[in-house]
Amino acid sequence: ASVLILNGPNLNLLGQRQPEVYGRTTLADVEALCLAHAKTLSIDVAFYQSNHEGALIDAIHAAKGTHSGLVINAGAYTHTSIALMDAVASVELPMVEVHLSNIHAREEFRHTSYLAKVAVGQICGFGPRGYLMALDALAERLVST
Ligand code: DQA
Repeated sequence: ASVLILNGPNLNLLGQRQPEVYGRTTLADVEALCLAHAKTLSIDVAFYQSNHEGALIDAIHAAKGTHSGLVINAGAYTHTSIALMDAVASVELPMVEVHLSNIHAREEFRHTSYLAKVAVGQICGFGPRGYLMALDALAERLVST
């Protein structure tokens, strides 16, 4: 099985960006943690980040036939993008939504997620560990389906 891990806008700045909220771990560190964890689960992972909504949509479309599941941290697009939600619905791949921070404990505008409507589940508030938890959840689901 192969899982595509997608990161949206501003996550390229992870580690430098509001470290009091998002921590000091960089996106490259997160990628390395995911690669190591995927090995223990005997799955493959691919990692992609973009600040552009359309590029993320293209990556979701391209995942169909190439990958068996998706992990998505769409950053602020989570709260705004019907187009990203529709893209996930269109490819019919299981998707786990991840956020480093607990979006429900933050500003009101972060409490809603369009992506949650098409997700298997949402993991938030556990920092980089959330990506690994998402891989655990998908790996388990992919062997049993
Ligand atoms: C985030 C939460 C979003 O509300 C925010 O816009 C981000 C990061 C997180 O990982 O906690 O860019 O997705």
